Amino acid sequence: MTLYRQEFAIKEMDFIHAGEASVQVKNILKNIGADPDLIRRVAVAAYEAEINAVVYGRAGLMVIEMNDDGLVIMVEDKGPGIPDIELAMQEGYSTAPPEIREMGFGAGMGLPNIKKNSDDLQIVSGPGQGTRVVMFFRSDWQGQG
Ligand SMILES: Nc1ncnc2c1ncn2[C@@H]1O[C@H](COP(=O)(O)OP(=O)(O)OP(=O)(O)O)[C@@H](O)[C@H]1O
Ligand SMILES: [Mg+2]
Repeated sequence: MTLYRQEFAIKEMDFIHAGEASVQVKNILKNIGADPDLIRRVAVAAYEAEINAVVYGRAGLMVIEMNDDGLVIMVEDKGPGIPDIELAMQEGYSTAPPEIREMGFGAGMGLPNIKKNSDDLQIVSGPGQGTRVVMFFRSDWQGQG
């Protein structure tokens, strides 16, 4: 059963507001009194996926859905897609161009960090297909006050 669902637009090449959808998700979890460790993991993973959508996908959509089993976060973009997902998942692999590296991105740690911080990660992507990242975080919501 879906307990809560919300969508956030991730705006085109918007580095001023990049990360705002993740902050909103973090605040929603804080407001319901979710477990601090869950909030931390969600904040890290959602932020990395959101930044990737801005950097590579140009713009995108974040959807969060709470159900009886936990929290699902989907981030999708209509960008160029990821040709080799296994390679992209490797620590340190990055195709970030110089202007993106100047802003502090491009360590090649985003996807590995999403993997580390989520309980399940699925990536659907391919050349010209855009990218859909679906993360799952297990929770029985017992932490909520
Ligand atoms: N949404 C996406 N669309 C297209 N390619 C992507 C997308 N997300 C990741 N990639 C590809 O996968 C690579 C690895 O992504 P990852 O987030 O791990 O590292 P990064 O973004 O390069 O650096 P960091 O996240 O550490 O700033 C990217 O450099 C890019 O080539
Ligand atoms: Mg990244």
